[in-house]
Amino acid sequence: MTNLLELKDVTKSFGRVYSLRKVNMTVRPGEVLGLLGDNGAGKSTLIKVLAGVHQPSAGDILWDGVKTTLDTPRVAMSRGISVVYQDLGIIPLLSIWRNFFLGREEEVSRKLPFHWLLRTSHMRSVARQALTKLGIHIDDVDLTVAKLSGGERQSIAIARAVHFQSKLLILDEPTAALSLKETAKVLSYVRAASEQGVAVVLITHNIAHAFEVCDRFTVLFHGAVAETTEKEGVTEQELANLINTGTRMQHRIAV
Ligand SMILES: Nc1ncnc2c1ncn2[C@@H]1O[C@H](COP(=O)(O)OP(=O)(O)O)[C@@H](O)[C@H]1O
Ligand SMILES: [Mg+2]
Repeated sequence: MTNLLELKDVTKSFGRVYSLRKVNMTVRPGEVLGLLGDNGAGKSTLIKVLAGVHQPSAGDILWDGVKTTLDTPRVAMSRGISVVYQDLGIIPLLSIWRNFFLGREEEVSRKLPFHWLLRTSHMRSVARQALTKLGIHIDDVDLTVAKLSGGERQSIAIARAVHFQSKLLILDEPTAALSLKETAKVLSYVRAASEQGVAVVLITHNIAHAFEVCDRFTVLFHGAVAETTEKEGVTEQELANLINTGTRMQHRIAV
């Protein structure tokens, strides 16, 4: 099976600071890959490379087996890469359905040019269906997003990426600010997205959450890959050690 995405020796430096050092990483179609690492490990830099925000200083990116460049966020998006940052790209004072179609209104206008009413009812029903398809139950898509919980906001961003046929969905700390119950829901939507064939890169600090939904893990340590492993090949304790020390072993504290 061809990897959906492959990074080969990707390095990114800002002046004399090396944020990524010869990173090798793969994402398989439809899998959930956990991208783990302590603060400053290079996770955000890596996703900005994938989002077309930063260009690598060295190394190659292969998309569907073909060498590619992601020159701008627009290019990355047109390849099918969706990134949900912590601020989600969602506007609280707009309704759910407006947010769902944010940035895509022109496409809809082209399809239904003269029928304002038809257009809005079309967008409402598409948004409702897309949410339902992922198991998200929100009755009223006319509610403003400001009225929703953090988990529901995440769910809209995930449903949007699935509906608009992203191949790769990157989520940056989606459960960071959520309650336990909300977290469980968001994790279930992550699984649902992958069951619809969308590959997910899940960035998280929380090893238990990662363990619950990921198929594999890539752990970054000081900008380099400490290890990539299948979930079956590692324990939660070893993952914690990899994140903290770069190896599976817990370093002894010197006395
Ligand atoms: N635009 C930038 N300019 C200079 N240094 C940066 C920039 N972005 C990130 N860094 C540095 O790269 C390293 C990795 O940061 P980052 O990718 O944000 O890590 P993480 O998301 O894992 O916390 C840090 O040392 C950070 O200070
Ligand atoms: Mg970060």
